Amino acid sequence: MADQSGYSKASKKGPSGRSYRNKTGLTRRPKKMRGRKVSSQRWLTRQLNDPFVAEAKSRGFRSRAALKLEQMDDRFQFFKPGMAIVDLGCAPGGWLQVSSLRTNLGKGNARLVGIDLLETESIVGADIFTGDITDPAMLEKVLTAIGGAADGVLSDMAADTTGHRSTDHLRTTALLETALDFALLVLNQNGFFLAKCFRGGAEKLLLDMMQRNFKTVRHVKPAASRSESVESYVLAIGFHGAGWADDIAAEVEAGRRDAHGMIIV
Ligand SMILES: C[S@@+](CC[C@H](N)C(=O)[O-])C[C@H]1O[C@@H](n2cnc3c(N)ncnc32)[C@H](O)[C@@H]1O
Repeated sequence: MADQSGYSKASKKGPSGRSYRNKTGLTRRPKKMRGRKVSSQRWLTRQLNDPFVAEAKSRGFRSRAALKLEQMDDRFQFFKPGMAIVDLGCAPGGWLQVSSLRTNLGKGNARLVGIDLLETESIVGADIFTGDITDPAMLEKVLTAIGGAADGVLSDMAADTTGHRSTDHLRTTALLETALDFALLVLNQNGFFLAKCFRGGAEKLLLDMMQRNFKTVRHVKPAASRSESVESYVLAIGFHGAGWADDIAAEVEAGRRDAHGMIIV
């Protein structure tokens, strides 16, 4: 069970490491299982028995992921009222809801901009785009909407999984790279960057880049992130950008960026 900060180890799992049991100690099963793939049966069973899914629903959050962001902020307190926040990969909008609440969106100077491949239901006071963050034209729109500068950049993006662990790791790391690149461009001094990160080796260069540009970089695994999942988050706080120009120059030299500093895809 979670401690008072909601932050300790995840609640009990079944013997497979996947299922959650209800109060009676029994795993609840979805009613309509016939005709579904085994993976979808497993997902439905897990959703039905997951206490965080129930909590998110009862509190009106659009996603279980909202609880992860809440738990991370309870622990590290990176949100402040009045902040300008960009949420990359924001659908269905759980992180937007938490960001809106914790920055007091609608009062003072707080601003909130989100983007996702999928359409996201609106949030009062937020600018939300539907599009691909790897499309420079879309990122330009996000940049303009946030007024050219942000206090925090969030990314809960994950590429669609293929089931092949190293392919999934590389694809999600590529999204992390795009998110970090955007954060380095847009963050104000002392800003923060919080992003999903599948650990597996390829993220090392990106972590080094964060170390050079932020005061503190740490891996975080909130209680609501399933313990059997490779998912974790990287939280970088205290942006100072000291390493930014050097990093870009090194990447231009290595042929990973063009003369304008843009990543070569
Ligand atoms: C785990 S969900 C985000 C959940 C969200 N944090 C919430 O609380 O509701 C990850 C999202 O990343 C989005 N995504 C993945 N690749 C993307 C891309 N290239 N551009 C924009 N969004 C992307 C997916 O469409 C998906 O909605």
